[in-house]
Amino acid sequence: MGIETSCDETALALIETRTEGGVFEYRILGSLVHSQAELHSAYGGVYPTLAKREHGKNLVPLLEKLFRETEIPIRGTLEDQQFAEKLHAFENDLKAQNPDLYESIAHAGFLKKIPAIGAIAVTEGPGLEPALWVGITFAEIVSWLWNVPIIPVNHMEGHIVGSLLRDDKPSKNWHKLLDMPLPGLAFLMSGGHTELVSVESIGTYKIIGQTKDDAVGEAFDKTARLLGLPYPGGPHISKLAREAAEQGIASPVSLPRPMLKSGDLEFSFSGLKTAVLYAVRKAAKPDGTLDEAWKKGLALEFETAIAETLEAKLRKAIDETGAKSVIIGGGVSANRVLRERFGAVAQEHAMPIFLPTPHISGDNALMIALAAALVGDFTSTRKLKAHGTKRLA
Ligand code: KG4
Ligand code: ZN
Repeated sequence: MGIETSCDETALALIETRTEGGVFEYRILGSLVHSQAELHSAYGGVYPTLAKREHGKNLVPLLEKLFRETEIPIRGTLEDQQFAEKLHAFENDLKAQNPDLYESIAHAGFLKKIPAIGAIAVTEGPGLEPALWVGITFAEIVSWLWNVPIIPVNHMEGHIVGSLLRDDKPSKNWHKLLDMPLPGLAFLMSGGHTELVSVESIGTYKIIGQTKDDAVGEAFDKTARLLGLPYPGGPHISKLAREAAEQGIASPVSLPRPMLKSGDLEFSFSGLKTAVLYAVRKAAKPDGTLDEAWKKGLALEFETAIAETLEAKLRKAIDETGAKSVIIGGGVSANRVLRERFGAVAQEHAMPIFLPTPHISGDNALMIALAAALVGDFTSTRKLKAHGTKRLA
């Protein structure tokens, strides 16, 4: 079972894995994602305290739904007395830390049925610390109730392995992962991260480039906010940019291509955001609004600036590492223009590229369960700790 609560998606998944003739195989029982994006929209970014509360409210109902839909076999039942005693062990701490989570667990009779699962994989980081703690606490509680080990998972590793899924729909069929020639190069782009990772093998990684300031998704979100578009901004910018291209609207300003000539694999997007801010200030009408065509033109220029920068860094990273394959992961990899550009680069180099499906590009627990099954330490007894990173709010 996978649990993911690092940001504003509450996600749970159940998978089954096996090794047949030395080859890893998986099948998906279920993967559910409850997005809080609409709630955070009013804040123009993810609001950590709200994310924490929502995860606390959503985890138990989502788990009940997952068990109902997957009809996971039951391997035992806790007596009322046992359940009450186990509950009592964490009652005081949890009531103080996360009353919503406590309340929903205390009233969840279905938790007395012990599902036939072998391990619980949970995102330990990176992410929003208060949000991560909810998933970790929940993992610890169900692990205690059902006596099942916990496997801590790195969220970014989840994004890497998730892109190797051949199929992300629940099915009785066993699948193999897509075959990734090694060494691979993973390009991870989300609201919190922009990373180039050299993949020696699954489980052995080296970060070879990252952002000095804002993440690429963050740049999309902040620019969207300046244009008066809702959070998360990526899809909205992308839509306006497409309309500009279709309607032949030219860019009203030219934005910088940050770090394009830096000669390394580092990124920086805060200057781009500042350039957008100045352009918006200059173009705003007296009532503060912006012309619709102007917004479209700016969105196109912004997306192009990002795309040119990311493409150049991808090319440089391929040259430097001699990578034989490319994996793209993280929420921003849903962007159509970027996908096309990355695809063209891979084709030029005659190397395979692994792009996530829509379900996998956003945050989900399927990739977390998969990462644990592939490289997780099933015997780990260490105390879990949320590895938080800053995020926009
Ligand atoms: O991986 P993810 O779901 O969550 C984090 O771990 O951050 O990534 C979310 C980010 C947001 O910044 C969102 O604006 C961006 O992915 N995003 C996009 C698109 N769809 C989502 N950015 C650009 N174009 C898109 N189509
Ligand atoms: Zn993510």
